[in-house]
Amino acid sequence: MFRKLREPGPEALTITIDGVSVLAEPGESIAAVLLRQTEPWSRLTPVSLRKRAPYCMMGVCFECLAEVNGVASVQTCLEPVGDGMRVTRQTGKRRIHSSRG
Ligand code: FES
Repeated sequence: MFRKLREPGPEALTITIDGVSVLAEPGESIAAVLLRQTEPWSRLTPVSLRKRAPYCMMGVCFECLAEVNGVASVQTCLEPVGDGMRVTRQTGKRRIHSSRG
């Protein structure tokens, strides 16, 4: 869907999206990297399981939520990439974690 006009170059970072290694440029958002993928979606809606992709790119629409380094519902348009980041597309309802087991 989207592509960069130039490659990141020697300063490129590597992140993983659903376990697949992807090159990213320092300073760009995770959402921008997601939009360059063959499957540019970030999450499935909790009820109808429809694919949603980053839309506003400024923290308003919440369509870009994904799990980042084990933290669910991160607004990926507001989160800059970091080397070794693990991004997982969210599917279905979020779980509430409890320390009571
Ligand atoms: S793309 Fe709209 S909040 Fe992230």
